[in-house]
Amino acid sequence: MKLKYSNLILNIIIILVALSCKNSTNTNDTQKVQTSQVIKTSFGLLSDGQISSLYTLTNKNGMKVSITDYGGIIVSVLVPDKNGIMADVVLGYDSVGLYEKNNPYFGAIIGRYGNRIAKGKFSIDGKSYQLATNNAPNHLHGGSKGYDKKMWNVTAIEGEEPSLVMTYLSKDMEEGYPGNVENKVSYTLTNENAIKIDFEAMTDKATIVNMCNHSYFNLNGGKSDILNHSLQIFADKYCAVDETLIPIVGLADVTNTPFDFRSIKNIGADIDKDDTQLKNGLGYDHCWVLPQNASSGIILAAILQDSLSGRTMRVETTEPGIQFYSGNFLDGTIVGKYGVKYHKRSGLCLETQHFPDSPNRPDYPGTLLQPGEKYLSTTTYTFGLIQ
Ligand code: GLA
Repeated sequence: MKLKYSNLILNIIIILVALSCKNSTNTNDTQKVQTSQVIKTSFGLLSDGQISSLYTLTNKNGMKVSITDYGGIIVSVLVPDKNGIMADVVLGYDSVGLYEKNNPYFGAIIGRYGNRIAKGKFSIDGKSYQLATNNAPNHLHGGSKGYDKKMWNVTAIEGEEPSLVMTYLSKDMEEGYPGNVENKVSYTLTNENAIKIDFEAMTDKATIVNMCNHSYFNLNGGKSDILNHSLQIFADKYCAVDETLIPIVGLADVTNTPFDFRSIKNIGADIDKDDTQLKNGLGYDHCWVLPQNASSGIILAAILQDSLSGRTMRVETTEPGIQFYSGNFLDGTIVGKYGVKYHKRSGLCLETQHFPDSPNRPDYPGTLLQPGEKYLSTTTYTFGLIQ
């Protein structure tokens, strides 16, 4: 009996020790998952057989951003709403093949030149260049195969704040642009729930550079379109455009027009007004002029809010312009992530950049990059809640 009793005690001790070992292994595993801030997974094959990867960055607060090496595309952004529920606030696809087939620039790095260049023509030092007129009659977003359709080299960096450093060498005369250009785009997910994007470029011949990120945002995770989002843009002027979306001479004043977003305003409030500029853009597809100059550094350009979810997004940039595109060309034919159809105005873009057609507009801030100079541009998209 005494022996039986001591055996029982021994068994209990063994079970307790085993359980405590199991728990400690679990704790270690969990810690490992929580502190590993960049996870690389497969994102499928491209048509030429190249393997694409998806990098998921997680910050201290649990915000997650997934980015692929194809086009440097931001594939998903998971942020909490007013009840702490996470949702994906950008449009896109589940696999690289779909991006390759048909991407209206969802989440992509745009270059060499973001936005339009009239008739695809520009000249440097008296030499003329002809680019693809892929948005007839104009050149758009880097041409037929811009930076959004290239494979980027990726280095993942873990630390206080996870980041990806992406590089791409654009060869001399690629898409008709002069100069070998070394591009570097760094994405950092900060602990303030910001996606910080640093663009850099160096060239060996005079060329033009104007990069941006082309994410389509929907702060309620696609529960409804973006017409009920409200927007504030800190700009008194914008570039009025012709029917082909090339800026006309001079800058237009936003006062008493549907383009006045100086006080926060519902996007749907004026979008269907009888206005030539809205007709030309099929809605908003215009570049607002920020009070920015070479020495002003990073400034607050825009605030986006969605009262349904309570989510907000602040856009800060070193760029002189912000193109607000209200998703006018989405028409329901694209089926994106989670099987969702993207209809007109399912998402909106706030693309920080120089003004359209700058290479042909001496009155605009310049986009020329000379050998020995470094192109630098920074934008942050910071997510939060309506206070
Ligand atoms: C930019 C342009 C729009 C449209 C979209 C992509 O925002 O300004 O006109 O081309 O890209 O569809």
